Amino acid sequence: MDTLQPGQMLGSYRIIEQVGKGGMATVYKAYQPSMDRNVAIKVLPRQLAESAEFAARFQQEARIIARLEHPHILPVFDFGESDGVTYFVMRYLEAGTLKTKMEAGPLSLNEIDRLFTQLAEALNYAHGHGIVHRDLKPANALIDGSGNLFLTDFGIAKLLESASPRLTQTDAILGTPAYISPEQAKAESINQRSDIYSLGIILYEMVTGSVPFVADTPLAVILKHISDPLPPPSVRKKDIPEPIEQVILKALAKDPSDRYATASEFLSAWKRALEDGETIQRSPEPKSAPDSRTWTALDQTQGQPASAPSSVPSSSSKGLTGWVVGCLVVACLAFSVAGIGILFLNWQTPAFLAPATSTLFPTLTPLPPTQPPPPETTSAPNNTGEILLQDDFSQNDQWGTLTDADYSVEYDGEALRMKVFQQTSWFVWSTASDTAYQNIHIEVTATNNDGEASTAFGIMCHLQATSDSYYYLVMTPGGNYAIALTKEGETDLFLTNDDQWDHSDLIVENKATYRVGADCGNGRLTLYVDGQQIASVTDSTFTSGIVGLYTWSGENIRTADVTFDDFIVTTLE
Ligand SMILES: Nc1ncnc2c1ncn2[C@@H]1O[C@H](COP(=O)(O)OP(=O)(O)OP(=O)(O)O)[C@@H](O)[C@H]1O
Ligand SMILES: [Mg+2]
Repeated sequence: MDTLQPGQMLGSYRIIEQVGKGGMATVYKAYQPSMDRNVAIKVLPRQLAESAEFAARFQQEARIIARLEHPHILPVFDFGESDGVTYFVMRYLEAGTLKTKMEAGPLSLNEIDRLFTQLAEALNYAHGHGIVHRDLKPANALIDGSGNLFLTDFGIAKLLESASPRLTQTDAILGTPAYISPEQAKAESINQRSDIYSLGIILYEMVTGSVPFVADTPLAVILKHISDPLPPPSVRKKDIPEPIEQVILKALAKDPSDRYATASEFLSAWKRALEDGETIQRSPEPKSAPDSRTWTALDQTQGQPASAPSSVPSSSSKGLTGWVVGCLVVACLAFSVAGIGILFLNWQTPAFLAPATSTLFPTLTPLPPTQPPPPETTSAPNNTGEILLQDDFSQNDQWGTLTDADYSVEYDGEALRMKVFQQTSWFVWSTASDTAYQNIHIEVTATNNDGEASTAFGIMCHLQATSDSYYYLVMTPGGNYAIALTKEGETDLFLTNDDQWDHSDLIVENKATYRVGADCGNGRLTLYVDGQQIASVTDSTFTSGIVGLYTWSGENIRTADVTFDDFIVTTLE
């Protein structure tokens, strides 16, 4: 019934043969005549199409999944529905999966490190785009002929869940028992820490040769994840160094809040543990893989002192009206928290943000062809407060500018453009005047030129005249945001989400242009995006200061390129 026959057409693809079957789907090798290439087609169960909720979500979710672009995520070329058959078209990979590789024999430490690094980086990237995998397991990590790993099936579990009333195969809905997190097993709401747990199980399996919980039935395995203590890896494999054991234990904490917050944090801890336990070598294979120590970004950040090393260059000729670049220490480590733990904020549209006229954003840099969002209009300020400072950047002389191999802040037409290149996790900011304001509302139109979803941009306020101390309120086109406090000599404190980046569904993802707003005053900091309140926190560390614009390159991202326009500061009602 669901089986497609060789030679049969599915959309514009000709089925060659069935190559695999999982819990819910069937995978076929097929030929795509237009591109003269073979592809893999994942066909979802036919009854899914009957679910109205599924049909509604399929397009939206599939588009998000298809947009993921990472060296270790299997590309999704296409998706569609044909005669009641819903399918994803992916790159075809001849070789096996991490599952078959592990079944073939124990992995060397070097091999574990290499594969785990690729897995964690792929996961970190997806989390940065607000996608939780939900079914992370070795069978979903394909491995090509060169031994490189490609994570697949992102978000499929979520799609299947959307049609859950029609699907009764418990294990398929919940994920895969051997790798399922306790909260997922309990059908509680999950976030990226659930993937961290599954990643921990994979690491446990790679290191010890077996998964921690086995039982006669899937249900018994699930119950063990919920309530059985974890058998320490060293019980299974005697010579595991203590630091590595500790890393695995933390990833597999029953309580999600005790786990690593992000995959990159997990990866950093693993790398540190490897170095600490460098003497171990459980396998006779020499440590020779050339790419097993290639991660400058994480090592850089983990080596940072606790305080933010800002102010790399000397200050500009305009005193504090200028620019500063530096590395966001907390952000370097915590950025990839991405999208989860979605906060449902009690938001409202403040009167002064009510949309009125439209402001066309500057057409300075054409978007690369892969970037889907066309230029959009955003609401222009219509503030009821008294205007304190207004700049459409037509004068080209007020803001601090900078031209450097690694950063630039420049006027570009009648706009201000900030770039970070050759650096990862670095920020740059610029200010317009030395005037200190208190109790203000600020707005700016920001255009993300290079389409990087994890570039953060926004507003800084209450910059102190005598130190590099201020607040910044920033968002990313991936839907993340933070309101943070920088105090010179101290690590940045994120006032939102327990010192982490957070994700908001209210930020429409991957638009080219956003109107970012901020309230700074009355002991409160509030971030707005496109007229919607995203988050609000109380903090009275600073009550007045200079205002500015802020851009951060994102973790593992080499460039940031943001154009700002229509900046306005008004009194806060
Ligand atoms: N892109 C691909 N290229 C080649 N073979 C693939 C591809 N994707 C999947 N396969 C094969 O198809 C098999 C079935 O995949 P499928 O995702 O349906 O099941 P699974 O991963 O084993 O379990 P689950 O249904 O929980 O995801 C895989 O184990 C793999 O051997
Ligand atoms: Mg799969």
